Amino acid sequence: MPDVTTTAAAPNPHLAAYAARGLKGRILSGVQPTGNLHLGNYLGAIRNFARLQDDYECLYCVVDLHAITQPQDPAQLAAQTREIAAAFLAAGIDAKKQIIFAQSLVPAHAQLAWVFNCVARVGWMNRMTQFKEKAGKDREAASLGLYAYPALMAADILIYKATHVPVGEDQKQHLELTRDIAIKFNNDFKAPDFFPITEPLIFGAATRVMSLRDGTKKMSKSDPSEFSRINLTDDADAIAGKIRRAKTDPHPMPDTAADAEKRPDADNLLGIYAALADQEKDAVIAAFAGKQFSEFKGALTEIAVAKLGPIGGEMQRLMKDPGHVDAVLRDGGERARAMAEPILAEVYRTVGFLRP
Ligand code: TRP
Repeated sequence: MPDVTTTAAAPNPHLAAYAARGLKGRILSGVQPTGNLHLGNYLGAIRNFARLQDDYECLYCVVDLHAITQPQDPAQLAAQTREIAAAFLAAGIDAKKQIIFAQSLVPAHAQLAWVFNCVARVGWMNRMTQFKEKAGKDREAASLGLYAYPALMAADILIYKATHVPVGEDQKQHLELTRDIAIKFNNDFKAPDFFPITEPLIFGAATRVMSLRDGTKKMSKSDPSEFSRINLTDDADAIAGKIRRAKTDPHPMPDTAADAEKRPDADNLLGIYAALADQEKDAVIAAFAGKQFSEFKGALTEIAVAKLGPIGGEMQRLMKDPGHVDAVLRDGGERARAMAEPILAEVYRTVGFLRP
């Protein structure tokens, strides 16, 4: 289990009910169905999702509503929604015990997002760095949905009163905004403790997987080079080929953490090895210190194929059985709706919407 850090815990009245059931809380997290899943998605998010299910009640959502904040091909969107659900299952998330679903199956997400659009301030949204990155230079041409994206993410979390969200570095600002929205709603409507102040769960180990072609850039589905990333569905040959071609430098393997830090390509490969082997990076540095990259790459290929091969294989198998994946999503959507609807009804009453 990687080390988990949370922010200092204020007394959280929402946790008591979970403690009574031997749980630490309720988790919601989401993955966008935009592009193929790669090693960074797996080590940074999906693997951790599976590890949290013993301690938390978990809802894992394929966020298709978020996906359309940027243009998507409809057929691809549907296929990728299934692929993410398949990855959740292949990674070992128990769809009976936990909930795997697609966001658009639960209308309450969008309904609560509207209320949050009216709680959040334009000034808050203007500070969101992800909007600035995704909108690029021509901000006027970005969709209104891309701008409101963080309010929808807050709704994803708070429509289930989730107490914890596993997030990567890049989503910390959005979770902070979620907390601000919860606080403002609770204050504005004099409903103390109605929404929990959701805590981030941040994983210590190698959550930042970088490009195999450039150790200073994040591994990304939008990188034009296929050799920059290992996809979860890559077979053993593809994994081996990409590791063989992974960028290194002309020196032997680093012998200290300080040396590794100055060599981003080596550091990235060491971090990937450590994450796959569930070891501390320092231990991996010590094990390969001064060796040739070729020897290290052989070991990295071996562990990558051993750990990722079965997951990719299971995903391929599941994607050939879309009926099964769809049934999982349908069932998860029903159970999520049953949880979300009473909370939305309470929000509507609190806001003053007549329920005749
Ligand atoms: N914004 C997240 C990302 O791009 C995806 C997401 C949507 C999410 N809703 C969420 C993550 C709720 C955590 C909780 O990675």
